[in-house]
Amino acid sequence: MAPFSRRDMLRNSLLASTALLFSTKRTNSFVRFPEIPKTDYIRLNWNENPYGPSPKVLEAITNSLQNTRLYPDDAISELKTKIAINQNLQSDQVLLTSGSTEVLSLLGMHAGIQKGEILTPWPSFPTLIEYGKSAGANIKKVDLGANETIDLNRVLENISAATKVVFICNPNNPTSTELNTRDLKAFCRSVPQNVLLCVDEAYIEYSTQGAAGSMVSLIKELPNLVICRTFSKAYGLAGLRIGYALSQSHNIDALRRMHIGWEISTGIAAVTGATHALDDQQHLQYCVAQNAKGREILYRAFDEWGISYARSSTNFTYIRSEGFDPAIVSKMKDEGILITKWPDMTQHIRVSIAKPEDMEVFVKKAGRFTLHTKDHRRD
Ligand SMILES: Cc1ncc(COP(=O)(O)O)c(C=O)c1O
Repeated sequence: MAPFSRRDMLRNSLLASTALLFSTKRTNSFVRFPEIPKTDYIRLNWNENPYGPSPKVLEAITNSLQNTRLYPDDAISELKTKIAINQNLQSDQVLLTSGSTEVLSLLGMHAGIQKGEILTPWPSFPTLIEYGKSAGANIKKVDLGANETIDLNRVLENISAATKVVFICNPNNPTSTELNTRDLKAFCRSVPQNVLLCVDEAYIEYSTQGAAGSMVSLIKELPNLVICRTFSKAYGLAGLRIGYALSQSHNIDALRRMHIGWEISTGIAAVTGATHALDDQQHLQYCVAQNAKGREILYRAFDEWGISYARSSTNFTYIRSEGFDPAIVSKMKDEGILITKWPDMTQHIRVSIAKPEDMEVFVKKAGRFTLHTKDHRRD
């Protein structure tokens, strides 16, 4: 069976969206915190790039606004071609979306409208499963393995006849860890081809394995693999909302037919920003290198405080919370620093990495809320 049946998806997506309109039941297990972020906070909560795009890219975005009266089709084609060339694919294997959130929501809906099951390691990024749940999917969560890393064998063992979508986020949010590339490739090849496999590579640019950690080379081989990527993180364009899916053309075609606007859900500023950002690899490398510096500042502090943490392959860290005041999140907010604790993150907090100087401020302030009293606690 092909992973997607185009006709069923079209019909069911209409039914599902109608049902959603009339449904009063809301799933509220992923609440964004805090609700009203202020721009003067040090934002270590949403894994944003503190540098944003380079001045060159900003200039291109500004210039693109002169074309706001036109539909962005040409710019979309240009960007798709560029992404396809970079990834050694064809442009019909690329779908541009309004952030990678859009890809995740479409895949969640795909599982939901078939009343199928979404299988995910947990904790992991919740968008796909939350959309799936809203559209009627069952969710099966499997625990992580050692060192906050996804246990691929456990995921494989849990695939059943009910499984419609398997979700793997690599590097994983919120745990920040990444999988061994060879193991993940073997896993991808082992997932039955009638089950859609989504590999979310939102943080791949920060991966210590670099582009080699991507599963993109498997796209030609695996008809059920959908990779999603974003310009929101290392490329610093979160506010413009642009991401993309990579997959064989039959899946891309089915996704395009389901998604809002038949691939015109992105605007000229976003598409131009992304196109120029891809050309500015120097800025990307700068952001990644600065992120590594910020990460080291955190590691030094955590070691000093005796706090355990996973080594991060991303722009955030996942740390045990028991060494901190239980009210650390709100206390840090009072100090002007936003950090994250998802509702079901009972033993951890997540701290995004901003500029090294901001991380020094974080260390100075968070040090006051550690429970391991050490006389070298910073003030
Ligand atoms: C793992 C992961 N995937 C996808 C997204 C969605 O990003 P966007 O919709 O901005 O592309 C995020 C955002 O935090 C994320 O952490």
